[in-house]
Amino acid sequence: MTTIDKEYSIVPLHKRPDLISDCCTLLNSEWPRSETARLKYLNVSCDEFPTCLILINKEDRVLGHCKISLIPRLRHSCLIQSVIIDYQYRSQGFGSKLLHGAEEYVARKGIKNVYLITKGQEDFYLKNGYKTCDPFKASGINDVVYSNAAFTKAKLKEKSTQCCGPPPPPMPNFQMPKFYDLGVITHRTHMVKKLTSL
Ligand SMILES: CC(C)(COP(=O)(O)OP(=O)(O)OC[C@H]1O[C@@H](n2cnc3c(N)ncnc32)[C@H](O)[C@@H]1OP(=O)(O)O)[C@@H](O)C(=O)NCCC(=O)NCCS
Repeated sequence: MTTIDKEYSIVPLHKRPDLISDCCTLLNSEWPRSETARLKYLNVSCDEFPTCLILINKEDRVLGHCKISLIPRLRHSCLIQSVIIDYQYRSQGFGSKLLHGAEEYVARKGIKNVYLITKGQEDFYLKNGYKTCDPFKASGINDVVYSNAAFTKAKLKEKSTQCCGPPPPPMPNFQMPKFYDLGVITHRTHMVKKLTSL
């Protein structure tokens, strides 16, 4: 457990199984999933990673959560995911407290680099010392990150010719939609923080 001050602390979720249900509710308030799927996601928490950390107040209210997993291909590195603060407690510095506490937690376990992938919260992470980095592959083979436009184009072409044959010739004045218009690629920013300064 990391005590932030008299009021708040950061605790591995598996040390507080009584709070799993509250944590589930918190996550589902932002990213709705079935309770079964969510509990499965949270119940893997353990000392050796993946670890779910929760930010609680002295009344044991779950104010925040993040999940930390090792990145197999990158030494001394972890991925932080599902960072969330209860919406009633946002913009009061709790997100930063949680991130900092998580960084201290992983640093004690020998982690030197914290990676994350975000879409829309870049400024929050920049303010907390994260920098954008090249795309990385965080987990299994199904989680391929399309690293550049040429590769993406090739993938899209491959997809479009897979079942339907070659595409028809373009209509006059036809403009190729941008990749993000196709709904195939969502722009995600990869970020990293080196923990040497902690
Ligand atoms: C992102 C989130 C965790 C931030 O938590 P928070 O408690 O509101 O953040 P903090 O109060 O610690 O903010 C720290 C700084 O980041 C800024 N910030 C926070 N969220 C921001 C956002 N979405 N865009 C721009 N700046 C943001 C704050 O203004 C603050 O700046 P300041 O120090 O200059 O005042 C919270 O908004 C949240 O739970 N969002 C929904 C879930 C989500 O999107 N998680 C991220 C998944 S990658």
